[in-house]
Amino acid sequence: MAENKPKLEPVLFDKSVKAIDPESVRKVKLPSGVMMPIAAFGTFHSDWAQEYMKDATLEAIRLGWRHIDTARAYENEDVVGEAIKEAIGAGYISSADDLFITGKLWNGHMAKKDVVPALDNTLKALGVDKIDMYLNHWPWPNVHVPGASGDYRNPNAVPYIHEDFMETWGEIVNQKKAGKIVDVGISNHTKVTLDLLLADVDDFSRPVVNQMEMHPLFQQTELRRYMYERGIVCTGYMSLGSPQRPGRDTFKEHRADMFDPRILAIAKEAGVTPARVCLSWAAQRENKTGGYVAMATRSDWIQENLKSATEDILTPEQMLRISGDDTDANPGIDANNRLIWGQVFLWPEALGDWRVLWNDSQVFKTRDGYMKFKESFQRHYKVWQETAVSVPR
Ligand SMILES: NC(=O)c1ccc[n+]([C@@H]2O[C@H](COP(=O)([O-])OP(=O)(O)OC[C@H]3O[C@@H](n4cnc5c(N)ncnc54)[C@H](OP(=O)(O)O)[C@@H]3O)[C@@H](O)[C@H]2O)c1
Repeated sequence: MAENKPKLEPVLFDKSVKAIDPESVRKVKLPSGVMMPIAAFGTFHSDWAQEYMKDATLEAIRLGWRHIDTARAYENEDVVGEAIKEAIGAGYISSADDLFITGKLWNGHMAKKDVVPALDNTLKALGVDKIDMYLNHWPWPNVHVPGASGDYRNPNAVPYIHEDFMETWGEIVNQKKAGKIVDVGISNHTKVTLDLLLADVDDFSRPVVNQMEMHPLFQQTELRRYMYERGIVCTGYMSLGSPQRPGRDTFKEHRADMFDPRILAIAKEAGVTPARVCLSWAAQRENKTGGYVAMATRSDWIQENLKSATEDILTPEQMLRISGDDTDANPGIDANNRLIWGQVFLWPEALGDWRVLWNDSQVFKTRDGYMKFKESFQRHYKVWQETAVSVPR
């Protein structure tokens, strides 16, 4: 988006920045036995950095990142695939097997018939014959046009309908059975939608990761603890507060994690940057059971962002200052500062209120259940329009 676009300085890839030993990066053991590096290099282009993504990914691999977070929706799997090929050519890795690659099924491909072609396209573009982690990107099949502005609405958007989701999920699990996926997970699920899913899966088809927005000013503690108790690994995204996110996801209410005075104070005490504090908090919280996704297009930042996965720099007291302990004496700094409101995914019955996407007030078990709700809603809405002085739209 134009308002976010920084000056196009030459990107600062600097070969004198030293690589981190990938062995020193903390990993979590997934139920499959695979060790997943807790730090994932993000490849979402924030609408402006697309042209740098191949070089940034190559540089990330050179500097020791072994977990790459990709998605069909980022429209750059082929570019990431090229970076992987070049990394092999340059001797940074011996094959793609040295990497842990996360991919995501896009909303527009959630119909049962579309899952296999979507996955096959992803594998082909990345140049691999199986993917380490395949996430369902969003809980509903709602799509927006690429680069959509914040007021874009798709009239065909629907809320979470568990019956439909399970059809998609069944197809994803079939691809795990077929050997094209090693581990399965979800992204942007809430506690209620995760609960419905967990009630309907066996050990083989259980999601092992939920990738969700998480940073010091938006901690999602209840959901994070829920996942911790059930052994579901959290990879937090926008861990730095996503300073260059697209205009459609930027609102005047938002606050910047890296400029928060409490984060700045801890950074000063620890002798590190605010970015490092944000990432270390993600890596250390809930007994070090999760990790983070972070993107950067400069060698020094790419290197720095991996360090939080190699060394715990925050003391328990500093962790407490950020996370709090549910008491008035130690409230922590969470400000419920959600950056991705997801308003472009809103369905008609949400009446434009983005909170409905996240507060689980419109979640349906069956298609019939949703249709009944929709009919009743339309009847009541008509009466509302006919009688009330003002009606939200
Ligand atoms: N599952 C989902 O729905 C979902 C949603 C959003 C994002 N994601 C994933 O999460 C990744 C990260 O999200 P994001 O890129 O929006 O947010 P982010 O990682 O919080 O922020 C990235 C931005 O921070 C800047 N930055 C990076 N390292 C820095 C440092 N050490 N000091 C200061 N600034 C630094 C980068 O600047 P430069 O670019 O100038 O280097 C970049 O613009 C994405 O790339 C994507 O893979 C997933």
